[in-house]
Amino acid sequence: MKRDFLSIADWSAKDLLKLLALSADMKARPGKYKDSIRGKSVALIFEKQSLRTHVTFDVGIYQLGGHSVYLTQSDINLGKRESIHDVSKNLERWMNAVVVRTYAHQSCVDMGKYMKIPVVNALTDYEHPCQAVGDFLTVVEHVGKPKKKKFVFVGDGNNVCNSLMLMASKVGMNFVAATPVGYEPPAEILKLARKAGKETGAAIEVIRDPFEAAKDADVVYTDVWVSMGQEAEKEERLKAFHDYQVNERLMKLAKKSAIFMHCLPAHRGEEVTDDVIDSRQSVVWDEAENRLHSQKAIIYTLIKG
Ligand code: CP
Ligand code: NVA
Repeated sequence: MKRDFLSIADWSAKDLLKLLALSADMKARPGKYKDSIRGKSVALIFEKQSLRTHVTFDVGIYQLGGHSVYLTQSDINLGKRESIHDVSKNLERWMNAVVVRTYAHQSCVDMGKYMKIPVVNALTDYEHPCQAVGDFLTVVEHVGKPKKKKFVFVGDGNNVCNSLMLMASKVGMNFVAATPVGYEPPAEILKLARKAGKETGAAIEVIRDPFEAAKDADVVYTDVWVSMGQEAEKEERLKAFHDYQVNERLMKLAKKSAIFMHCLPAHRGEEVTDDVIDSRQSVVWDEAENRLHSQKAIIYTLIKG
């Protein structure tokens, strides 16, 4: 049976831990996996901009011996020039997997249904599961075993927050999101995270005060206040998130050993100050690097089974 990688919620804790272990092994022993997907082709469909996800999938697939075909909206005009169904039915005849960055999460779910080949969510408005795998590899490297440690997400309860919260719940890490009213993670994500957290011992909380949240944190994470596709809401969002900046004052409340994380791209001076993102506590470039290793693990797992 083919598997997709669309949501962290779809994968068991055991399989996610296996994926994290494989990501670490990909990083430690890249030669072992060289040419492991020789002759396989992967489509990379991007309806939104990308630096990290595009480059790391492309390079990762090359390093595994496979071949990638990059398709933007101006190439295929997904859902307009041709329906998602028909695009999917074509792609499955030529490709061995499809990676897709799109707006509606449902588009990605539909592609998974239409195709006999694996589909990977490379970011939707709802989730960014590849980011969560790379980031938890980074957490393990810097903080050690995540169980019972404290992960704090400050700002918008967005796609990145959703995937991180789900991942934390699956690996037993306590998770606190500090968001303004109206910007909380969706209720169904909270429900799924709390359910998984019951089994792993992870407490999942949503509160208002970012300073309260930051107390004794092992990880402080933030993301942009205006995600791709929300540009029309920019003014109201900048106002709503005004008190949610990760700055030195906030970082002082976290553990001395705490790390600062950001999926990038960062809007310096908005959600994070230069002195935090450029500090010794910041691991943002490690996160960017780990996207490569973890996505190689995802592609390898889905194609090689
Ligand atoms: N973090 C991340 O997904 O970056 P890109 O949008 O540049 O791919
Ligand atoms: N929340 C951001 C993440 C970018 C990687 C967005 O969706 O634009």
